[in-house]
Amino acid sequence: MTDRNYIELTDKLAAGDELSDEELGALIECEDREAGAYLTQKAIAVREKYYGKKVFIRGLIEFSSYCRNNCFYCGIRRDNKKAERYRLSKEQILSCCETGYRLGFRTFVLQSGEDPYFADEILCGIVRGIRMRFEDCAITLSVGERDRGSYEKLFAAGADRYLLRHETADEVHYGMLHPEEMLLSRRLQCLRDLRDIGYQVGCGMMVGSPYQKTEHLIKDLKLIREFRPEMVGIGPFLPHQDTEFADQKAGSPLLTLRLLSIIRLMHPTVLLPATTALGTADPRGREKGLLAGANVVMPNLSPVDVRGKYTLYDNKICTGEEAAECIRCLSLRVSKTGYEIVTERGDPVTFGSPETP
Ligand code: 5AD
Ligand code: FES
Repeated sequence: MTDRNYIELTDKLAAGDELSDEELGALIECEDREAGAYLTQKAIAVREKYYGKKVFIRGLIEFSSYCRNNCFYCGIRRDNKKAERYRLSKEQILSCCETGYRLGFRTFVLQSGEDPYFADEILCGIVRGIRMRFEDCAITLSVGERDRGSYEKLFAAGADRYLLRHETADEVHYGMLHPEEMLLSRRLQCLRDLRDIGYQVGCGMMVGSPYQKTEHLIKDLKLIREFRPEMVGIGPFLPHQDTEFADQKAGSPLLTLRLLSIIRLMHPTVLLPATTALGTADPRGREKGLLAGANVVMPNLSPVDVRGKYTLYDNKICTGEEAAECIRCLSLRVSKTGYEIVTERGDPVTFGSPETP
C-alpha cells in the first residue's frame, strides 16, 4: 500500500466511515513514519474537539492480590505460589479514598484479582461506604467476572462504572491466553450485563500478547466499534517471570500508540487511559499515549507497603512512590505534553457524538 492510501484510510476513519477488515489491518500494520504522524495528528484533533486539553485522573486502589483465576499472562494468577497475597480492609480502602480525595481525585477505581473473600455483601458494604462519604465521586469497579445479580447489587450500592477487559476478541486466541474453564463468551456476556444494568463500561485488550496476530487486533477494534464502551483500556503485554509466558516477547509500545490513535478516531468520545503498562514499556509511554489520543491517567492510590505485591507483570513503575508523589510526578509529566490534569469526575461527553446527533 502506498503512503497516499494510509492518509486516505486515516481520513476515512476520521470521517466516521467504517473501514473494512483489510483496511483496518493495513492501518494497524502501517510502519510508515509520515503516515503514522498523520494518524496521530488526526487523533489529537478529535480528542481536543471533545475534551480540549483536559486529562482526567482516576485513583487506582488495588485492594486484593488474591485471585481464583489462572490467566497465563498474569503475575497474580492462582498458581503463582511466589506471589505475595494481601487484602486491604474496608478501613484501609476508605483511607486510600480519603487521601485521594484530598489530592483531587473524584474517581476511585477499585481493582483486585477475583477474590472470593469479597462476596457481594462485603464488597457492597465497601461501595456503600465510599458512596456515603464521597458523594460527588464516581466509583469504578474492576473485579472480574461475577454473575448478573452480583453486578446489580453492586450497582445498587453505588458503583457507576466497571472495567472488564475482554483481552482478545478471538475465541481461539482467548483460549491460548487462558485456562480452558475461562471463556470469551462468558466475558462478553458480563460486558453486556454490565451495560444493561446501567454501568459505564470499559473493555480492552493487551497489545502484543503471545500468539496475537493482526487479525485478532482487527476483531478487537470491531468489538470496540460495535459495543461502543464508554472506556477502553489497552496496554502492551509485558512478561512476568513467574508465569508460563515469562520468556515471551513484550508487546510493542509503538503499536500500542497506533492503536490508541485508531481507537480515538473510531470512537471519538471514548475515555482512553495512557496505562501504567505503557509507562512501564517506555519511560515516556504515558506522555506519548496522551499525545496519541489518550485522555485519562490512572495513578496508584494503594498503600505503598502493598504496591509491590500487585505485580501483573515485571518492572511495574510507581511501586515505591506515595500517592502524593505520583500525582505530583504525573502532573508535571502531563503539563509537559501541553495538557492539564483536571479534578472533575470526567464522565463521557455525549454532545455531538455520533450516537446523539
Ligand atoms: N502484561 C500486561 N498487561 C497485563 N494484564 C494482566 N497481566 C498483564 C501482563 N502480563 C492486564 C490485563 C488485565 C489488566 C488488569 O491488566 O489486560 O485485564
Ligand atoms: Fe508514579 Fe511518576 S507517576 S512516580
